[in-house]
Amino acid sequence: MRRRYLRSVSRASSILGYVALSLAAAACGRAETEASGPADKGSTPSGDPTDSLRCAGCHPDAYQAWSLSMHAYAGDDAIFLAMNARGQRETRGQLGQFCVRCHAPLAVARGATVDGTNLEQLPAALRGVTCVVCHTATRDENASLVLAEDGVMRGPLADAIANPVHDSAYSPSLDRGQPESAAMCGTCHAVTNGHGLQVERTLDEWRATTYSEPASLRTCGRCHMPESTGVAAAVVGAPPRRVHGHAMPGVDLGSALPAQTRLVQETLDPAISSKLCVIPDVGGAAVRVTLANDRMGHSWPSGATQDRRAWLELVAYAGNVVVYASGVAADDEAVATSANPPLVLLREQLADENGNPTLFMWDARTAQSQLLETAAADPAQSTVTAAVRVSGLVDRVTSRVRVRPIDHDVADALVASGDLSPDATSPLTTLTVGATVLEWTSDRGPACLP
Ligand code: HEC
Ligand code: HEC
Ligand code: HEC
Ligand code: HEC
Ligand code: HEC
Repeated sequence: MRRRYLRSVSRASSILGYVALSLAAAACGRAETEASGPADKGSTPSGDPTDSLRCAGCHPDAYQAWSLSMHAYAGDDAIFLAMNARGQRETRGQLGQFCVRCHAPLAVARGATVDGTNLEQLPAALRGVTCVVCHTATRDENASLVLAEDGVMRGPLADAIANPVHDSAYSPSLDRGQPESAAMCGTCHAVTNGHGLQVERTLDEWRATTYSEPASLRTCGRCHMPESTGVAAAVVGAPPRRVHGHAMPGVDLGSALPAQTRLVQETLDPAISSKLCVIPDVGGAAVRVTLANDRMGHSWPSGATQDRRAWLELVAYAGNVVVYASGVAADDEAVATSANPPLVLLREQLADENGNPTLFMWDARTAQSQLLETAAADPAQSTVTAAVRVSGLVDRVTSRVRVRPIDHDVADALVASGDLSPDATSPLTTLTVGATVLEWTSDRGPACLP
């Protein structure tokens, strides 16, 4: 996990290192500095006034949290760079700006990249989903993102106090109380490929829920940007405000920073619930596991589901002997091709023009999704149940749900094509959903847990 993102690690550490030097509040990033390589271009603010580092002095909390978000890594992520490189080659450049217009929109707006293959040479200020990407965002008639680049920071405040570096303006697209803000997130969190196939559907999944209706509105920001009281800018005379978390953790880890790992785990732990029922009988036991998505505003997994694998691991024991196991994947083994397949595998399977499976979105003409819908869209589709009969003596059963943001089949294909260093994949991150970790023991008798 650490090696996969070595580049990003060095960048984050140096950014946080800089903030720690200039702001007492950010000391926690410094311990990581030892693990980092040579200082990246991003370690000191560039002359570019839109460099996120330029915002850090007055907006330290937003900056620090953003540094722990995947938005900060969207143009640095080793797998992203490898996949874009392969896609450009396989399509003979047809992909063009397709990937970078979401992963490094400022570089595209400034004409600093045509296809993203030079991203590593660009200043950090142009890579990723930076502050100004969201805070100068407007939408054109195709609902695509357009950066105003007019020096006006759009935000949730209608009465922002004046400051010497930027003008401010209220925008419903940056107000999590307004439906427009979900559309703003959705300019990127909905991906349709060049063949008209939707490969990421988070926005549309949300639109199908009751959360998108005026009476029960819960925008993306309502769940992903927790509110607290503070100041919007750390300057003299700043009034108390409702401020909002910018770390937006999901499942992906762009850095090996412990603070990001902790946020991701805290978000993931309660996200899915599960129930384990074991009914022992003379010849063995009937085991049933139900998984439910009743907390999210979209399916699970969501987003890059063509890369993502979530699955059920179920093991039964007699003493210390394993008498039944499914979904036990070794850390370096792709779960989709595992010798020990899971009873439940949540993912999206893409197929090319000949109907053959493909791992890459630029080839895809059709998609088959096996995801948990949210109860807020359709309660009937928001659970999945797996049942199995185990014979022989069973005195203990364990179950848990695991997820890999990207699995080895995808990463290995990028290594095989020479686009990704093998170091980057050994091993990939595997996370466990805390609320789904359950253990039945025979002293409970026939029972359902929790
Ligand atoms: C010199 C200090 C300073 C710097 C540097 C600075 N800001 Fe601000 N910013 C402020 C102040 C002061 C406010 C108003 C706070 C208030 O009224 O509570 C503000 C408000 C904002 C708002 C809210 C606007 C609204 O109307 O809702 C956003 C968004 C914002 N800044 C983004 C940024 C970004 C992005 C950068 C870096 C490109 C940046 N700021 C750099 C001082 C600064
Ligand atoms: C992915 C989009 C996104 C990125 C990237 C982003 N912000 Fe924000 N920001 C928002 C949204 C949405 C809100 C409004 C939340 C609300 O009030 O409903 C917000 C609110 C703010 C505010 C107003 C105070 C508050 O907390 O509500 C400031 C200041 C701000 N952001 C600064 C920054 C800075 C500085 C960065 C970069 C370090 C940044 N933002 C990166 C989306 C973003
Ligand atoms: C300019 C495009 C863009 C906008 C606008 C945007 N995002 Fe993102 N977001 C991304 C990209 C790209 C990534 C993934 C980066 C990566 O993994 O390389 C991401 C990642 C995330 C993740 C983490 C996903 C994971 O798997 O861990 C969350 C959560 C998220 N965004 C929420 C939001 C919310 C909420 C908003 C609106 C306030 C928003 N985003 C606006 C492009 C965007
Ligand atoms: C009702 C709350 C809620 C709403 C509304 C919501 N989300 Fe989420 N979202 C979550 C939770 C909880 C997770 C954490 C799941 C995890 O860690 O795997 C999540 C995960 C994600 C992820 C990571 C995907 C994955 O596979 O886990 C992305 C990306 C994301 N949300 C984007 C969005 C966007 C964009 C919107 C609006 C269109 C939105 N969310 C609306 C609660 C919500
Ligand atoms: C319309 C915007 C958009 C486009 C175009 C786009 N992406 Fe993304 N990408 C996103 C968002 C949003 C996420 C975060 C979703 C999530 O993590 O669930 C993401 C996540 C990713 C991830 C991280 C997945 C993970 O779980 O670690 C990779 C890799 C990636 N994209 C590669 C690409 C490549 C390669 C292309 C071009 C072929 C591309 N993307 C085009 C918006 C986009």
